Amino acid sequence: MHKTVGVFYFSGTGNTEILINLLGNELIKNGSKIELIRIEDILKDNVYFDVNNYDLVGICYPIHAFNAPKIVFDFIKKLPRVKDKYTFIIKNAGSNFIEGGSTTIIKNKLKVKGYDLFNESLILMPSNLFTKYPDELSKQLYLTSIKKVQRIVKEILNGKMRRQKNSAMITIFTRVISFFENIGAPFFGRDLKVNENCSRCNKCVKNCPRNNIKMEGYKIKFGWKCMSCLRCIYRCPQGSIKPSVFKYAVFKDGYNLQSIIDNPDIKGEYITSSTKGKYSRFYDYIYKED
Ligand SMILES: Cc1cc2nc3c(=O)[nH]c(=O)nc-3n(C[C@H](O)[C@H](O)[C@H](O)COP(=O)(O)O)c2cc1C
Repeated sequence: MHKTVGVFYFSGTGNTEILINLLGNELIKNGSKIELIRIEDILKDNVYFDVNNYDLVGICYPIHAFNAPKIVFDFIKKLPRVKDKYTFIIKNAGSNFIEGGSTTIIKNKLKVKGYDLFNESLILMPSNLFTKYPDELSKQLYLTSIKKVQRIVKEILNGKMRRQKNSAMITIFTRVISFFENIGAPFFGRDLKVNENCSRCNKCVKNCPRNNIKMEGYKIKFGWKCMSCLRCIYRCPQGSIKPSVFKYAVFKDGYNLQSIIDNPDIKGEYITSSTKGKYSRFYDYIYKED
């Protein structure tokens, strides 16, 4: 059956956007009509949507501190109430540690509004903070995500149930960590500094999903609404924005998965059956069926 699918997504530094493009193409290939809408555009009142037009609703986001980013919760508040709307979630993160935890809170909020979460999946993508993955591994995770998205599309179009179970302990852990992340993220924003290379191009001001960056006179100012998505840091053309206290959280030489995908010299054959050490945890994810 041909379905109309509305997908709402947030991407801080491009990984989720790359997945969204794969998802959109795969849905079209399977005969669906799609609308892919950035959550930030909805919250900035730049786009109109009507969930009643969709047979299926999708929500996609990167995991932030074992949970969905704050902007996703703001979006859910804005969603209209519906009756039994089939909904799927695709999360992505640098690891699958307590993967179900990141949907526990969201699942309940969606249910109250009539969105029936029938399928949830986690796709592993390169981490964009603390530990930079080797380029070969980043490419391999991207190549693997193509297959994962194909599997997800097959499942959601066939109405296959896939729900992650969570223990009470995981739910409590997730809530505690997210609580502290929500408190801490604005401090991360206030810690950002702009160096002398800044060309005042205004890109960070225009691109901030939370409208948290302002140009006042000749100065760039960061407000208290930051959710530490890192977009301003990694997308600044001059590399001028850096945290001061939290400087070890971000990569000195930036982060851009698209440039790794586009580089034909990076083959993406990093993990093999003989891989040892911390990245060996990706073996099952890459080579075994979900
Ligand atoms: C503030 C913040 C918190 C994060 N927390 C987690 C986490 O708890 N677990 C994890 O595996 N990855 C975590 N990550 C990594 C991202 O989920 C991952 O790199 C994701 O693919 C980024 O997607 P994006 O480029 O669309 O923003 C975090 C990233 C940020 C910026």
